[in-house]
Parts: sequence; C-alpha cells; structure tokens
Amino acid sequence: MAKEFKRYLVTSALPYANGPVHIGHLAGVYIPSDIYTRYLRLKGCDVISVCGSDEHGVPITIKARKEGVSPQQIVDRYHELIKRSFERLGMSFDIYSRTSSPVHAKTASDFFRKLYDDGKFIEKTSMQYYDEEARTFLADRYIVGTCPKCGYDRAYGDQCEKCGSTLSPDELIEPHSAVSGSVPVKRETKHWYLPLNQYEDFLRKWILEGHKEWKSNVYGQCKSWLDGGLQPRAVSRDLDWGIPVPVEGAEGKVLYVWFDAPIGYISATKELTPDWEKYWKSEDTKLVHFIGKDNIVFHCIVFPSMLKAHGGYILPENVPANEFLNLEGDKISTSRNWAVWLHEYLDEFPGKEDVLRYVLCANAPETKDNDFTWKDFQARNNNELVAILGNFVNRALVLTKKYFEGQVPACGELTDYDRQTIADVAAVKASLEANIENYRFREALKDAMNVARIGNKYLADTEPWKVIKTDPERVKTILNIALQITANTAIAIEPFMPFSSAKILRMLAVDKFGWERLGAMDLIPAGHQIGEPVLLFEKIEDDVIQRQLDKLAATKAANMAAEATQHVEPQKDTIQFDDFQKMDIRVSTILAAEKVAKTKKLLKLTVDTGIDKREIVSGIAEHFTPEELVGKQVLVLVNLAPRELKGILSKGMILMAEDASGKLRLLQPGDATNNGAVVG
Ligand code: MF3
Ligand code: ZN
Repeated sequence: MAKEFKRYLVTSALPYANGPVHIGHLAGVYIPSDIYTRYLRLKGCDVISVCGSDEHGVPITIKARKEGVSPQQIVDRYHELIKRSFERLGMSFDIYSRTSSPVHAKTASDFFRKLYDDGKFIEKTSMQYYDEEARTFLADRYIVGTCPKCGYDRAYGDQCEKCGSTLSPDELIEPHSAVSGSVPVKRETKHWYLPLNQYEDFLRKWILEGHKEWKSNVYGQCKSWLDGGLQPRAVSRDLDWGIPVPVEGAEGKVLYVWFDAPIGYISATKELTPDWEKYWKSEDTKLVHFIGKDNIVFHCIVFPSMLKAHGGYILPENVPANEFLNLEGDKISTSRNWAVWLHEYLDEFPGKEDVLRYVLCANAPETKDNDFTWKDFQARNNNELVAILGNFVNRALVLTKKYFEGQVPACGELTDYDRQTIADVAAVKASLEANIENYRFREALKDAMNVARIGNKYLADTEPWKVIKTDPERVKTILNIALQITANTAIAIEPFMPFSSAKILRMLAVDKFGWERLGAMDLIPAGHQIGEPVLLFEKIEDDVIQRQLDKLAATKAANMAAEATQHVEPQKDTIQFDDFQKMDIRVSTILAAEKVAKTKKLLKLTVDTGIDKREIVSGIAEHFTPEELVGKQVLVLVNLAPRELKGILSKGMILMAEDASGKLRLLQPGDATNNGAVVG
C-alpha cells in the first residue's frame, strides 16, 4: 500500500543564473515539474512548487571577469531573464526565488553552522593550485593545459574535451590559469568536508532497499555511486563569491555552491510561507525533486546526507530525473550557442507557449536521451494539436453556433455508441492519474489527447452535419455530448497546456473545473450560451521552420569558423639562426602545371626560380587545379635535396600553409617581385 501524504512539496532544480534557459532544461526539469504541480493543484491537494536562481559558483565569477562586470550584475541580468521567461511559458511556481537573497544566506549559513557545531564535518588541509597574479585559488575547470592522453593543448583541469578523458589538474602538461594566463603555484588551504562515507549505510537502506520504485536511471546511478564507495566531499571553496563560511578563521572561504544551492529550496519555502516547517519537517509531506540527470548525485546522495546530518528534515520521496534532450542530433551547449533559448522562442512564436510545452512533453527524455528537431515540432503542431485537438474543439463549437445559435442543446436518449464514447472518456481519468503520479508524463499527455481523439472520432462517426437534415433532435444529443467532451479536454490538458485549456473554457464561457470532474457528462448545462469560437492552434508553415533551421545553420558555421581559428599547432623546438640560414628560399613563378599521370595527388610544376627553370613535383592536386597555379608567384625552397617521384626528378618544394580546416594556401610575396629574390 502506498503511503498517504497530506501535502506535497515540489522542487525544480535551481537554474544557474549565468545564462538563459533552453529547451533542454525545460524538457528535462521544468515542464514535468509544472505538469505534476498543476495536476495536484487541480485535484485540490495542498501543494507548493518552489524554484529560484542558483547564483553562486565559479562559472558566474568567470563570466563576470570576462565581461568586466561584477558577479552580482551577471546574476541580476539572468535572474530577471529566467524568471520572466518562465512566467511567460506559464510555469506556475509558487515562488521563484534566488540564492543571493538574504533569507537564503542566513538559512544556508545556519545550516552549515549547525553541522559544524555538531561535529559533522572533518577539516583537512590540502595543496591546491593558486593563481598569484589574480590572487585566487583555481577550481579545476580554470586550469588549462595540454592533455597527457591526446596532446590537445586546451584541456581543462577536470576534463579534456577533445578526447573525453577525465583528468586531474596534476596530470595537465604545462598548466596555466584560465583566469590570468599565469602559471599557477601549489598552495596549502584548509576546507571542511562532509564525510559521505559515514552515510553509506543510511543511503543504502533508504534508497537501495527503500526506493526500488525510483526511475531505473536514478536508482542505477545511486547504486553505482554507493557500490563504488563514497568519499568525504569538500563543502567549502576559496572564492570571493558566495556565502561566507560562518566559522572563525575562514576568511576568503565560501560555501561550495552545491552545498548552498539545494538549501535554496528550503529558503524559498521560508520566503513563501511562515508555515514552511510544515512542508519540510513533517513526515506527512511528500517531497519530490525534479532534476536533470547531471544532478542525481547531489539530490540523491549529497543533499540527503546533509539533511540527515542536520536532522529534523524530511527526505525526498522521489527524484524523477530525466535524461538529456539533444537538438537536431547534437548535444545542446550553452557555450556553443547550440540551443533553442526559451526567451527567443517566446519572442519568435508569440501565442505558441503551449505548442512548445506540448512538443517538449511529448518528446521528453524520460528514459533515454532524445532529440528535438524543428521538423518534429512542426509535425506535432500540425498533425496533432491542429488536426486532433484544435479540430475537435472547433467543430463542436462551430456546429453548436450554426445549428443552435450557440445554446447548448439538451441531451436526449443515448445510443449504445454514445454510451461507449462516454465510457471511453471516463476511462481516461484513471490512466492519466496513474501516469502523472508515476512521472510518466509522455504517456499522460497521450491520455489527455485521447479525450480529443475520442471526441474527433465521435463527430466523424455520428456525422451531425449530415444528420441535421433528417433528424435534428438526434443532433442535439450529439452536440451535447461533443460539448461535454470539449469541456473534458479542458480539464485533461490543463496540466500540460494551461493556455489552451483556459482558451477552451473561455470559448465555452464556463469557469474552471476541478480535476474530480474529469469524465463527467454534465459539465455544461443545456441552454447555456457559449462564447465565440476561435482557432485553438494554427498550422505552422515550412518557411517558419526553415528560418529556425537557417538560424541553427548559421550558428554551426560560426562555431566551425571559431574553432578553426582556435586550433593552432604548438611551437616547434628552438633552432639557431644558422639553421635557418641553411634554407635557400626564392621567389619563383609557376610557368606550367600538369597532373602526373596515374596519380591522384601529384602535380608536376615547372617553375622559374630566377636561378634556373626546373621541375617540382608537389602533392597538391586535390587542392589546386593546374590552371589556377600557372602564372602565380610563390616561395620555393630551392636547395632541398632532389628526389625522384614517379620518374620525375623533383628539385625543391613550394611553400604552403595548411589552415585549420585542412585547406592548403599558397604563400606569395605581397607585391610582384623578381624571380630569384632571396627570402630571409
Ligand atoms: N544549478 C544547478 C544546475 O543547473 C542545479 C542546482 S539544483 C540545487 O545544474 F538543488 F542545487 F539547487
Ligand atoms: Zn585529450
């Protein structure tokens, strides 16, 4: 028997205030959490949903430094942007707070202090990289050097993005600071650690034995962390941005962002209601954390251990983490601008908030990573929202207008088919509830859409537009049922598409229904006057989608160009002037060029070096046509030992540069020069 709860506390991962929110965040965390919360509210449950901006951490300080502004300015900017775009999307948080709030600083500080006073931490000193120029300790991410595994020269202290290896800063060759560029030194520093190893037994019992019902991706990650054995984790950092460690002799140290951020859920609840303890300290409360998969360890292992260490707090009942959403086949990336940004979507698709909510839920990466494509977005809008939901609602309303001047006709005698249809609608409720309560939102959305599907089929099968000519009484019953189903769709879709639900209710000219009314066939009384039908959804045309694809293509091109300029071969070993002097490089003119028979790459060039006319064989046939070379002045290394290639004696080498994309470029004198001129 499942435990009965008196109230719900829903949390959604606090987004970092160092960038806008994108569709990956929405599909993974916020859409599911809003569906869940709206559903519980509609059921009349005592539920609160809390969220806010995560405003600490190193990336924010780095961004601020890069832009030459303060970290506070960065978080102010993104906090406002995120908060506003969530509102516009219809996210129904009871509070959207922020971790730079004074209430949070006090809550997090007191939390740390209690653990400190109760002896729950261990203190350790260690050697960490320190940037003497910027006068700051360096987080692993901010140490850059050459990857020992693949030689990539811009690997991070925690990872090489080229070969994917996990690294530690000590492994980097020639490490330097990403902050100042200087070479960091090792310095001793003291930090406080939460000995997670001491919580292993508690976690094993609580999760591995007690929560086998958790999603398999979540349970599996927890199991592998626990099986691997837990280590003490530092909960403080050397940084000047964050909540100061509330301990004597801890100057320049702040709480680690992953220590303070989850406490943000508690602070937000405190800001929302004086009754906050009821939500956090009563076993009657069901606490549910909505997060993305990269947050699992923090919400299932670290934060619960913190709560346990503190005492008095409840633990999450479930942590329905989603996998990741990709965009057009590629990983979403903030730094590469590979994303659909929520605020841009809202500007570019006004009135289509529900379309995004629908597509992201229908495609949510619930059990595996998933892909968002604009074509799928268009298809789901046109074939599902327009063709099924919009079409049904529109037909029911328009026919009522047409045949009965918008007055809801009375329901007469029912046929077996009517009864079956009514039973089908009523059956949706149980399935929809089970799916939402078990965090299967894609399935739940299908259930909700089924109400409209049933309605559509009902109209198609009963054909009131034909029957009106022969049996207008029968049409009254048909349209009464169709209108009741329309009102039912408004209930069923509310958690998913609140704007469209409200629009249907407006068109029906009725007030919002409670969830318990789902399946009822007396939602609208006969004789009730409905309002004006308007289209619920509009078709999205190809050119609109093409514009989005073009935008992404432009991003991709810009990224490739940027990467191309970024990759530069490291400098070769030092040579002496004499070494250079040995090379005889002359300005020369290409007189003739032809492909060497039976080869793909070789061209035979005849060049005038000023000294003589000679032949050079060069492996550039895939880069240049003979025609484009003839007449060009180039630089030739003329004293390279001759060698025979395909029976031709090649005497020298044409100098060229290979650009980052692998293309060869001729090196030419800036102005026409006499052949034989010495380069050096
Ligand atoms: N800011 C984190 C992220 O985006 C999530 C923080 S969740 C909290 O990955 F619990 F720490 F608040
Ligand atoms: Zn590497």
